[in-house]
Amino acid sequence: MWPTCQNVSKCVAASLGRRLHRVHTSSRRRCNVAAFMPEAAGFEGVSDRSTLQEFSVSSSESFWAAAARHRVDWISPFHLVQDCDLSRGKIRWFGGGKLNVSVNCLDRHVHTCPERVALIWERDEPGSEVKVTYRQLLEMTCRLGNLLKRRGVRRGDCITIYMPPCPLAVASMLACARIGASHNVVFAGFSAEALAERIRDAQSSTVITVNQGVRGGRVTELKKTVDEAVQSCPIVRQVFVAMRTENPVAWTARDVAMEEEMLAEEEVCEPAAMDSEDVLFLLYTSGSTGKPKGLVHTQAGYLLYAALTHRYVFGYHDGDVFGCVADIGWITGHSYSVYGPLANGGTTVLFESTPIYPDPGRYWEMVQRLKINQFYGAPTAIRLLLKYGDQWVQKYDRSTLKTLGSVGEPINTEAWEWYHRVVGDGRCPVVDTWWQTETGGICISPRPSDPGAEIVPGMAMRPFFGINPVLIDTEGNVLTSNHTSGALCISQPWPGMARTIHNDHQRFIETYFRPHPGYFFTGDGAYRSQEGYYQITGRLDDVINVSGHRIGTAEIEDVVNQCPIVAESAVIGYSHDIKGQGVYAFVVLKQGVDIKAADVLRQLNDTVSKKIAKYACPDCIQVIFVQHLPKTRSGKIMRRVLRKVVERDLEGLGDLTTMDDPAAVEEIIQGHHDLW
Ligand code: WT7
Repeated sequence: MWPTCQNVSKCVAASLGRRLHRVHTSSRRRCNVAAFMPEAAGFEGVSDRSTLQEFSVSSSESFWAAAARHRVDWISPFHLVQDCDLSRGKIRWFGGGKLNVSVNCLDRHVHTCPERVALIWERDEPGSEVKVTYRQLLEMTCRLGNLLKRRGVRRGDCITIYMPPCPLAVASMLACARIGASHNVVFAGFSAEALAERIRDAQSSTVITVNQGVRGGRVTELKKTVDEAVQSCPIVRQVFVAMRTENPVAWTARDVAMEEEMLAEEEVCEPAAMDSEDVLFLLYTSGSTGKPKGLVHTQAGYLLYAALTHRYVFGYHDGDVFGCVADIGWITGHSYSVYGPLANGGTTVLFESTPIYPDPGRYWEMVQRLKINQFYGAPTAIRLLLKYGDQWVQKYDRSTLKTLGSVGEPINTEAWEWYHRVVGDGRCPVVDTWWQTETGGICISPRPSDPGAEIVPGMAMRPFFGINPVLIDTEGNVLTSNHTSGALCISQPWPGMARTIHNDHQRFIETYFRPHPGYFFTGDGAYRSQEGYYQITGRLDDVINVSGHRIGTAEIEDVVNQCPIVAESAVIGYSHDIKGQGVYAFVVLKQGVDIKAADVLRQLNDTVSKKIAKYACPDCIQVIFVQHLPKTRSGKIMRRVLRKVVERDLEGLGDLTTMDDPAAVEEIIQGHHDLW
């Protein structure tokens, strides 16, 4: 009998809105800048915290050099702070420096506080949490690092991790960092095909998974999904399988019983000395074409940025329990469940369940039981819980909470107010944090501890240290005034930004640096208020955001078009009460196909969940019989028109003169009308 994932820590331990209402969060008194941020002590002309932000942008090199010296344990120091040229998509930080990320996240804390809890694994069943100390996590990481090495993994290899949030997933990420491999965590909700595509693109010959997942009281067959995926990945030569449940699963010759083999390994593993710019991980995300991009993050800059934002946005202090409920398969989980909190020696929660399991009080019961101090979640969950009523929140003691965070999509005023008033008892600042997989960490967000800081509901407010946002109009002019909107760009590099797209630097340049030469283009639009505060207004490209999960409409169209009954399709996002955005598919069926709309939806959903993931499934379809989609004369689908029809804004249809066949739009309006 193998030790299971549940008790491996024991085994290892044994042997191893722009609204008038504003919230003031801090007094306006001036504070000692060095007490706030020790490395700022030597900054010339920075006598108080209000000048620190300015300094971090105007003297960004000095700022980041001091932060890097202070926050990162170096094996050998860097000699070049940065070497960046945004126009060429060249980004390098801390040249010449050598470090090991796992040492920064583990060993240095084991030296000072080995018995401090690093991870609280909040398993699906409430009350069955497992705590892992820094000493235990280091031991797990080292054993796994040794096992990977013994099984042929070398520095520079990329390992795909397909696991739900659990200590062994974190140990897997850190074990890669320890031995100089990179990781590619794939969200365990992705289908076998989506997983296979990412394994192949990342060229992973090793995959790490669990036998089964457990979420919301249901078991998912993750190992089976991996087996299916690797059938089309000849490069995969071994699959490490951890046991999350006691249930045996089909075993093949390439499978490795992970916990069992870990126990046979040494509990000390020499950390690799990595260059600052060696790859730490790839993380796939959606763009506006069908093919997901593997964004590349490197060692020192990413770690520093995750650590600094974690401390200063959330006001994290030693001894706090940090509860980020994102899955580790997304960048939020990487930066704020794993790297940020662990670099800061924090205690971080790994949430395996759902907001409504076993009931809608889950989050707040967990806050009470684990004494969580900072809670970080997604607006979609807040909107869902709000509908169940205040009693599910008020049942539980939330007095430990100090800061509430929101991430992944805009938070509407109603949800913001409820989060603030009901969840936080009107006492905890809400930080609406804007950032992306590409940015590595939070870029625009309130910083409640700043003197005189105010928060306007629904606004992401102000840039983080070292971040200089600019708004650019459609003609490419930088907008200097306030009370204006434009494309959100960032004018100078920061250490946390992605370095490239794996195997496709050209796409990296074209997507982020070509639209507005010299600037990093985020893909989002933003409004800057009279006071200079930012509000994110949404994507400017064909990327949509479903329950905080990012997906390209082109990716869904690709799959929908593979359905044998479909001739062509257009997918758009539409405003959805709970999800933020829902997926709306317009489909033209092949000639002669005779099928009911409900059956079309079922077929499409089957295909999309099989080829991408459940969250990407259309909520709504409009089947367009006989005709075709509204297109320009050059054949481009006019999604703008479709969006207007779905928004019921017929007045706003705009210029239709370039349209190939105006009858197409009539048919859609009529069809949509029938659905109202
Ligand atoms: C896109 C990035 C940030 C980590 C999770 C998502 C949208 C993100 C906010 C926010 C409004 C937001 C943007 C962004 N987004 N945070 N606070 N307010 N929109 O990371 O999957 O890379 O998605 O999510 O559109 O570009 P991601």
